[in-house]
Amino acid sequence: MLPSTRALASDLGLARGTVVEAYAQLQAEGYLTARRGSGTRVAKIPVSTREAAGRLAARAEPDRRARPPRFSFHPGLPDLTAFPYSAWTGALRRGLRGTPASTLGYGDPRGRSDLREALASYLARVRGVVADPELIVVCGGFSHGLALLSRALQARGDSRIAMEDPCVTMHRSMVATAGMAVAPLPVDELGARTDLLAPRKVAAVLLAPAHQFPLGVVLHPDRRASAIAWARAADGLIVEDDYDAELRYDGQPVGALQALDPEHVAYGATASKTLAPGLRLGWFVVPPALIDAVLELRDAEDRHVPATDQIALAELLRSGAYERHVRRMRARYRRRRERLLVLLAERAPEVRPLGIAAGLRVLLALPPGGPSADDLARRAAARSIELFPLSQFHHDGEPSDPDGVVLGYGALPEYDVEAGLAALGDLLAESM
Ligand SMILES: Cc1ncc(COP(=O)(O)O)c(C=O)c1O
Repeated sequence: MLPSTRALASDLGLARGTVVEAYAQLQAEGYLTARRGSGTRVAKIPVSTREAAGRLAARAEPDRRARPPRFSFHPGLPDLTAFPYSAWTGALRRGLRGTPASTLGYGDPRGRSDLREALASYLARVRGVVADPELIVVCGGFSHGLALLSRALQARGDSRIAMEDPCVTMHRSMVATAGMAVAPLPVDELGARTDLLAPRKVAAVLLAPAHQFPLGVVLHPDRRASAIAWARAADGLIVEDDYDAELRYDGQPVGALQALDPEHVAYGATASKTLAPGLRLGWFVVPPALIDAVLELRDAEDRHVPATDQIALAELLRSGAYERHVRRMRARYRRRRERLLVLLAERAPEVRPLGIAAGLRVLLALPPGGPSADDLARRAAARSIELFPLSQFHHDGEPSDPDGVVLGYGALPEYDVEAGLAALGDLLAESM
C-alpha cells in the first residue's frame, strides 16, 4: 500500500500534482494498481517477469537483492524523506550565481572560506564553540575528520586512543585502520569515565559529551573537568563528537566542551543528522598544533569536499534556511519521541527508555527475565522489523547488564511512523 499522494507530497515537499503524475506514470507502466476507495498498491508482477528481473539483478549486484525490512529502527539515520530538497537546490542556485568562476578551481583543503566563516559564526552562536575560520576543516562527515585526526596523531608517533565503550562500531574500525590502538573507556550514568584517563597511557580520547552514543548520557560537569585536566596534564587530544546537539528536546542545552580548552579539543560535527548522511558533509575545528598535519593529509587525498556542496551549505547557513529546517525537524522528532514514550508506557511498561533528552533514538533497557536483546531482534526480524541490540556497540560485542536495544525513531519516513510504532508495540507487548 502506498501513502496517499497528499501525504507523500507533504513529506517530500513537492506539489501534489507532481506525485499524482508519478503515480499515474507508474500505474501506466504496470508497477502500481489503483482502485477507487482502496488506495494505490504495488502491483503483483507476474512470477516469470519477477524471476527474470531477479536473475538479472543477482548477476549485477548479488548483495542488493536482500529485501529491506518493512520498518527499520536504525539508530543513526534521520528521516531521509524530510531532506529539504527545495531549500537545498535554491541555496545551490543562489550560491552558484554569487560565485565567481575564479573560485571554482582546486580549492583550499580546509574548505571554501565563505563556508568556514558561515560555520564559525553558526558554531559560536549555537554551540558556544571557539571557532576561528582558519582552523575549520570541512570534511566528508564526522568520521572522515576522525580518520584524518587519527592519521595525524599516528604520523607524529601517538598511537593509542581511548574510545567510549559502547560507541559507534564504524568509528572504532576507522581509527584502527588509521593504525591506532583502541583502549575502551567505560561509560556509567555520569557519562564516560574520564576520571580513569591516565597521562601517557593514551594520546587522545574520543567523547560525545552532549549525548553519548548509544547510551544517551550527558557528560557530567565533573567528568568534563576530568577530561580537560587529563588533556592539560598529558598534552593529550580530546576529539569531541557533537553529532546531534541541535536535536535537544528538554533540559539545559549542553555547551561544547571545546570552549573550555580549544588548544586540546578538536570539535567535530556533521550534517548527517540534520540534513542527510549521504551528503557526506562534516566539519572540525582543529587545535592549532594539529592543523598543518591535518591539512597536509587532506591535501594529499582528494584535496577537499566538492565545491558545489560547500556552496549550497554555505548559502543554507547564511540565509537562515539551515536553522529553520533544524527547528522543523526538532519539532517533528519531538512529536515522535512523545508518541514512542506513550506507546511504551501503554504496551511495554516494563521496558525503560533511557537517554531520551536528545537525538534520534532511545535506549530501551530490557527487564530481567524477559527476552534478551538478541532474541528480541530475531523475533523482530521475523516480522520484518529491524532492531539493533546494544551489544553490537560494545567493544567486546557482549551484552551488558541490563541488556538493551538501541531504538532509532528518526529513520522511519513520516508516513510510516504510526504503522511502524504500532508494529513495534505489538512486538514488545507479545514478547515481554
Ligand atoms: C555518534 C555518532 N557520531 C557521528 C556520526 C556521524 O558520522 P558522519 O558525519 O560521518 O556521518 C554518527 C552517525 O551515525 C553517530 O552516530
